[in-house]
Amino acid sequence: MATERTLSILKPDCVERGLIGKVLAVFEEKGLKPVAMRLTHLSQAEAEGFYAVHRERPFFKDLVKFMTSGPVVVQVLEGDNAVAKNREIMGATNPANAAPGTIRKLFAQSIERNTVHGSDSVDNAKVEVAYFFRSTEQHGYEWKR
Ligand code: RTP
Ligand code: MG
Repeated sequence: MATERTLSILKPDCVERGLIGKVLAVFEEKGLKPVAMRLTHLSQAEAEGFYAVHRERPFFKDLVKFMTSGPVVVQVLEGDNAVAKNREIMGATNPANAAPGTIRKLFAQSIERNTVHGSDSVDNAKVEVAYFFRSTEQHGYEWKR
């Protein structure tokens, strides 16, 4: 399996409820390794640019409002098949449909306050990682555990 990197965001509902550590623990336990990480508060322009693919969708305005409502953690996760694996660990967009044990099933409150973002394809992962991190801000390492 190929080692990949994918973009993950811990959304404002995650940060404001003090769930950063619990969510990061799930990723680490399931084999996704953080190789870049930053706490930030997205500007409107940053959030609109990041979610530009959704700009025609009815929920776009609310999505940008929510994603700029408080700090988020942006991170790059590395691992075998990391893009698909991250989506699996996150669970379905709507927590009502998320499988048991997934982050959204465990922690999400609604389809909007759904705790995490994850890139949805290998190509988008490259674009999204580069949106937030230079290559010099990403640091691979070996786990000793
Ligand atoms: P994400 O991009 O955040 O990882 O989520 P996703 O791929 O599972 O879902 P996507 O279709 O890309 O939608 C992006 C985010 O928009 C919000 N959303 N609200 N009110 C609604 O019907 C609705 N639909 C989507 C969610 O926060 C979703 O994560
Ligand atoms: Mg998406």
